[in-house]
Amino acid sequence: MSRLIVVSNRVNPPEKGGEAPAGGLAVAIAAALKEYSGFWFGWSGQTAATFTGEVKESRVDDVTVMTVDLEESDYQEYYNGYANGTLWPLFHYRIDLTAYDRSFGEGYGRVNRRFAEALAPLIQPGDVIWVHDYHLFPLGWELRRLGITNPIGFFLHIPWPAPQLLTTLPRHRALVEAMFHYDLVGFQTDEWLWAFESYVLGEAGGGWARDGRLNAFGKTMRAKVFPIGLDVEAFAELAASETAVRTYDRMAAHAAFRSMVVGVERLDYSKGLEERLLGFQRFLEDNPVQRGKVFYLQIAPTSRGEVEAYQDIRVRLDALTGRINSMYGDMDFSPVRFVNRNYRRDELAGVYRAAKVGLVTPLRDGMNLVAKEYVAAQNPDDPGVLVLSRFAGAARQMIEAVIVNPFSHEEMAEALKRALTMERAERVDRWQALMEGVRRTDVRTWRDAFVSALKATREAGPVSELPVAASRGWRGVQAFDLARQAQIRDQRPAVGRMRLRDPGA
Ligand code: G6P
Repeated sequence: MSRLIVVSNRVNPPEKGGEAPAGGLAVAIAAALKEYSGFWFGWSGQTAATFTGEVKESRVDDVTVMTVDLEESDYQEYYNGYANGTLWPLFHYRIDLTAYDRSFGEGYGRVNRRFAEALAPLIQPGDVIWVHDYHLFPLGWELRRLGITNPIGFFLHIPWPAPQLLTTLPRHRALVEAMFHYDLVGFQTDEWLWAFESYVLGEAGGGWARDGRLNAFGKTMRAKVFPIGLDVEAFAELAASETAVRTYDRMAAHAAFRSMVVGVERLDYSKGLEERLLGFQRFLEDNPVQRGKVFYLQIAPTSRGEVEAYQDIRVRLDALTGRINSMYGDMDFSPVRFVNRNYRRDELAGVYRAAKVGLVTPLRDGMNLVAKEYVAAQNPDDPGVLVLSRFAGAARQMIEAVIVNPFSHEEMAEALKRALTMERAERVDRWQALMEGVRRTDVRTWRDAFVSALKATREAGPVSELPVAASRGWRGVQAFDLARQAQIRDQRPAVGRMRLRDPGA
């Protein structure tokens, strides 16, 4: 079997039950790598006075990890700068927070080159390379420049923005051109794939080859949807662990005669935390009988704390929490508990199980694995309700959740009321359908589908037929939209997997 080399900026395989690594990417990749020989390559998380390119090898929880240190200026310009100050906000539709700085772009290019130079000597013939996320768009191109001809795939964990937004990025063409040096590019949902295809057809004058591959910049590649999933078995093990059970007992005792609503995510403006607090406030305003009977626990560890937008959000959340607690709290009770620290994954599993409602309401999110973990942690006989933002990639799959528009405080308040008062029979129905989906599209399905599509794309060889939709600019996009709409209509019956007891749901 060929080796699988996974490359991502953050490399922190979670040790069993250990502290939750930041974001779903690391958990998913660690799970994906366990059954493959190969290694995981990326940044050590450390900075050094100068970049040496020295690769350090270690083994964590059955996974071989290879890392390099970055220079301080790399960290500032590439990680805090272009990746998290430019691309992250832009790709989450926040052009108001997007910083464009020439040095960021230079640092980003430099680090991608450095990663490629450190990685290239480790690659053997027959290896399959899988690059992850927005930090590393140009890595494939850099590896090709160094003569690497192995199959290279790329998976984007975050949304891809509409062309109207992407074109606000200086040098947007170069970014998209870089993606044509991969054999296969994967997205979380059809929405992000279509946004990408729209750009390729409309802005880059590209087209489709007859076999469905995309053609632009004189190159051909395949773009496809691969929704990421959980390591369901490993998570079930965590949820049954002693720590999880102990945490459940502790939280359940705490929530006696009260219902707990929970939210867990990195402290990030894309997660809709302020909107969620305002929705909760509205719920308390509109439902006096619920006051004192419900509390909302938000776990949000600090993330990317050196980037200004992340410092601002912390201040605003503290103020909002204080306001709601002073308005609706009592001498012995606070309706909002905002906890700014990280917890172990087994503890989180216990917290999820004790919560009557899982509130996952990002303003924009690639997938969101917390939604899936919340479902996987529930008691099948008396499950809690998932309230899910329609703007999370997960909402395309998890249609049996209570789906909300997080920008509307009224809708959030109504969804909370609905979830907290839902009959057990309906909760069980919804949970069963959700859990079936979580099991069916797990992390192994995701990994195997991607890796086999990558190999198949390479084996298919170069495209010989003429592109069918070449260079039609925005007219091509219109034709493409019509074709997609027809495709959606055809697929619709397959989507409704369950009949809810309440047809108005
Ligand atoms: C998201 C991104 C990941 C990233 C994670 C944590 O999930 O898609 O690429 O690793 O957030 O962010 P951080 O900046 O701490 O690595």
